Amino acid sequence: MPDSTDNRVQAFQWELLPDLSELLNRLGRHSFRGWPESTDELRTELEALRIDPESDIALLGSPGRICGYALTLTELDVDRVVTALATTDDCSGDAGKLLDFAIGRARSANVSAVHIAIRGVAVEPMEKLVESGFERVASNLELTLVREDGGQIKDTRLADGFTIRPMRSLAEGLLLTQVQNRVFEGHWGFSKNTPEEILARLELPVTGPEHVLFAESPEGDIAGYMWTALEWHQDHTCGKIWMTGVVPEFRSLGLGRALVNAGVKHLLSEGAADVHLEVVEDNVAAVRIYEKAGFKSHGKITWYEKRV
Ligand SMILES: CC(C)(COP(=O)(O)OP(=O)(O)OC[C@H]1O[C@@H](n2cnc3c(N)ncnc32)[C@H](O)[C@@H]1OP(=O)(O)O)[C@@H](O)C(=O)NCCC(=O)NCCS
Repeated sequence: MPDSTDNRVQAFQWELLPDLSELLNRLGRHSFRGWPESTDELRTELEALRIDPESDIALLGSPGRICGYALTLTELDVDRVVTALATTDDCSGDAGKLLDFAIGRARSANVSAVHIAIRGVAVEPMEKLVESGFERVASNLELTLVREDGGQIKDTRLADGFTIRPMRSLAEGLLLTQVQNRVFEGHWGFSKNTPEEILARLELPVTGPEHVLFAESPEGDIAGYMWTALEWHQDHTCGKIWMTGVVPEFRSLGLGRALVNAGVKHLLSEGAADVHLEVVEDNVAAVRIYEKAGFKSHGKITWYEKRV
């Protein structure tokens, strides 16, 4: 591991956005979420998050050279700060300075925990976290379905009177907020969304209302939903299952499987070459649905926690 250097942590400023974008592209896939390739899309994503980038993002480096970052999301309702954090290999010796930034954000927000995700099985960052008092608390599987396998999915028969329909317009944003908050209530790491956050997400082209499906009960209640995303890269279109679930009183009726199959079909019809998602490793019902649909596991994201 490189020795600690005189790299310093500085607050993010908007004029450093191109440097941050360049760093994120250089780092590739890491932590718990992906970032768009272009600077403009990164700006849009940062603006849609519930953060103040100038206080919640720290950059590591020396003048004119940024080699690491930490981004903190404070979630008061679940009493935690979630952190995306990474450095280039030559600056990994200074990752502790970014960890200190994240811990400081948690202390100033007066929450009890900092959560950090490590993608893959990179031993060095895990050791560094453990040395800094972090403990493993959860694991997510990364699953992928390739187009050829997705094409095999048959139409799913729905329980009597239930239907699956597309979201009609942004006007159903409140409905989507209520359903998402009910479906994930009590789930590890889920922080309730406000209608404004859901609307901001729906206004992004990758996760717009045309990518949301609702399952409706015979009485017209929303029984579940499937929120997909499409990302257009230079060489291929990538589909994502962004959020999905069935409200508790409608579970075990086959709606989860029907929504997943309908979501995959939607993404393939939009030209997705493959479909990606993340699922909590011990979510037996969800893992079963995805595996039956043909998804294969290709990676893991491990969450670490430090009480502060
Ligand atoms: C996961 C979830 C979507 C499943 O929806 P559902 O409508 O209850 O699932 P289905 O009725 O379609 O059942 C699908 C499969 O899971 C199995 N299953 C359902 N509930 C289960 C449970 N509690 N434990 C184990 N297996 C279960 C069913 O037997 C079925 O498998 P089979 O066809 O091989 O018999 C639902 O439980 C949910 O919304 N959970 C909370 C949100 C969530 O976890 N979303 C997924 C995040 S990626």
